[in-house]
Amino acid sequence: MFGDIVCVIDSATRFLIFVLLTVKTQICSGKSKILKEYHFKDFSIYSGNDVFDILLETIIEKSYTKVFVLADEQTEKYCLPLLNKYLFDIRLITITSGEQNKTLQTAEKIWSRLQQEEADKKAVLINLGGGVIGDIGGFCASTYKRGIDFINIPTTLLGMVDAAIGGKNAIDLNGIKNVIGTIKQPSMVFINPDFLKTLPKEDLLNGYAEMLKHGLILDAAYWQKLISISPWEINKIAPLINGSIKLKMQVVKKDPDEKSLRKILNFGHTIGHAIEAYSLKNDKKPLKHGEAVAIGMVAEAFLSKAKLNLTNKELRQISEVIINYFPRYSFRSILSPEIIRYMKQDKKNVDDAINFTLIKKIGKAGINFTCSESQITAALNYYDSL
Ligand SMILES: NC(=O)c1ccc[n+]([C@@H]2O[C@H](COP(=O)([O-])OP(=O)(O)OC[C@H]3O[C@@H](n4cnc5c(N)ncnc54)[C@H](O)[C@@H]3O)[C@@H](O)[C@H]2O)c1
Repeated sequence: MFGDIVCVIDSATRFLIFVLLTVKTQICSGKSKILKEYHFKDFSIYSGNDVFDILLETIIEKSYTKVFVLADEQTEKYCLPLLNKYLFDIRLITITSGEQNKTLQTAEKIWSRLQQEEADKKAVLINLGGGVIGDIGGFCASTYKRGIDFINIPTTLLGMVDAAIGGKNAIDLNGIKNVIGTIKQPSMVFINPDFLKTLPKEDLLNGYAEMLKHGLILDAAYWQKLISISPWEINKIAPLINGSIKLKMQVVKKDPDEKSLRKILNFGHTIGHAIEAYSLKNDKKPLKHGEAVAIGMVAEAFLSKAKLNLTNKELRQISEVIINYFPRYSFRSILSPEIIRYMKQDKKNVDDAINFTLIKKIGKAGINFTCSESQITAALNYYDSL
C-alpha cells in the first residue's frame, strides 16, 4: 500500500539544489506565466499553469527538514511526474483512492509512516490529489505532533474549487461523513489546471457541482456563466476556477470556524451528505460527493421554495441544469426515513433539529433553517418526480 523514499540533504546542498533547480524550472516551465495569487493571514493560494516554481522556492525558504508527498495510485501515476520535475528528495506516501479509505485506519497508516520516517515538527506534508487526499492529509498533518505544515496541491476540479481551500480537514467514522476533523489552513495551496487533462469526465462533473453551488449561494452572474458552458470543456471551465476560489475565500476569511456565515457553503450538503453516505454503504458504484450534492441542491431548492419563497422559475432552472448533466438516482425503493436517519447524524445539527442552508433566490443564501421530516420526504419525492 505504501510507496518509497529518497534521501536527506544538508542545507549547503539544499542551496546548491535551489540554484540548479531554479535554472532547471525556468527551462522546463518555459515562458508564459499565468498566475493569480491570493494572500490571507496565515497562508496563500497560487493558481496558474506555472505555480510550481513558487512551491520549490517556498520549500527551500522554509528549510523543511523532510518533504512528504501524500498521493493515491491515480495521482501517483498522473500527477506526481509533473511535481517531480520541480521537487526531489521527497518521501512518497501512497494510499488507496476512494472515499471508503477516508478512515481512521488510513490516517493511522499515514501517521505511522511519518513516525517511521522520523518526521519532526519542521517536516511538511504535500497533499497531491483530490478532496479525499486533501481531507485526510490535512487531518493527519494538523494532528501529527500537534501539527506540522501541509501544502495542498489539488488535482481534481472539486479539490481546486473547494476541498483544498478553506482549511477543513476530516475523516469519516462508521460511514458518516467528516465526523472527526480539524480546521487548520494549509500553509499554501497550488492550483494547476493542467492536472484536469487526465481527470475522468465524471470527476469534472463532480467539481462542477460545487461551482454551481457557489453561484447559487453567492453570485447569480457566476451561476449564469457556469450554466452557459458544459462541465466537460476544460478550456472553458479552467478560467472559472478563480471565480470559485474568490467566492469561497471571501466567506472563509470572515468566518473560518463556521460560527455563522460559512454555513452558507453547506447548501445542498445536508441532504447531499446523507445520500452520499447511504450510497457509499449500499451501492456497488457509490455516488460521488458532487453527484450527491447536486441531488441535495435540487431537494434543498425545493425546500427553499417551501420556506423562503424561491420562485418556481428559479427552482425549475436549478432542477433542469442538474438533471441535464448529473446521473439520476432513484429514491423510490429507498425509505426516506433511512436517508433522514443519516441526516440526523449530520454534525451541523443542534439538538434534534436537522439544520439547512437554503436560498432566497439564485445568488442569495440564508442559514439555520429547520425542516420537518414530511417536508424532507416531499423534497426527495420532488427530485424523484423530475
Ligand atoms: N474539505 C473541504 O472543504 C471539502 C469540500 C468539498 C468536498 N470535500 C471532500 O472531498 C472528497 C471528494 O473529493 P474528490 O471529488 O476530489 O474525489 P477524490 O479525491 O476521491 O478523487 C476522485 C478520483 O480522481 C482521481 N484523480 C485525482 N486527480 C486526478 C487526476 N489529475 N487525473 C486522474 N485521476 C485523478 C483520484 O485518484 C480518485 O480516484 C470527499 O471526501 C468530500 O467530503 C471536502
